Amino acid sequence: MKLVTAIIKPHKLDEVKEALQGAGVAGLTVSEVRGYGRQLGHTEIYRGAEYTVEFVPKVKLEILASDSTVDAVIDAVVGVARSGEVGDGKVFVTEVARVVRIRTGETDDEAI
Ligand SMILES: Nc1ncnc2c1ncn2[C@@H]1O[C@H](COP(=O)(O)OP(=O)(O)OP(=O)(O)O)[C@@H](O)[C@H]1O
Ligand SMILES: [Mg+2]
Repeated sequence: MKLVTAIIKPHKLDEVKEALQGAGVAGLTVSEVRGYGRQLGHTEIYRGAEYTVEFVPKVKLEILASDSTVDAVIDAVVGVARSGEVGDGKVFVTEVARVVRIRTGETDDEAI
């Protein structure tokens, strides 16, 4: 099992969510975050104005995926979130040791 973490531009959230639903993703967690990448936040445009502070608003998605679906999840995010401009974001994948669905006690792939 994998945890796919994606940091994207906030205005892409709805479209990414739809793409993930199309890829069969059954749940996700969304957080409003702030960050910067290689440009240190200085050259990014946010809502039409250049952002002059270091931290730029982003949305972080966390998606649990089985090993067999993780590539489809990554493709869904990247395919929609890429504009070609700086600040499009990052996707990274980490191993997950255990998942439990609290209501039923199901574990691992059955709990995703
Ligand atoms: N090395 C990193 N570690 C943690 N978070 C990062 C890292 N790089 C980027 N991020 C997060 O991702 C967001 C988007 O990063 P961004 O797309 O600007 O990366 P980049 O490497 O500068 O790529 P680009 O050159 O396309 O802008 C940042 O605002 C930050 O929240
Ligand atoms: Mg950048």
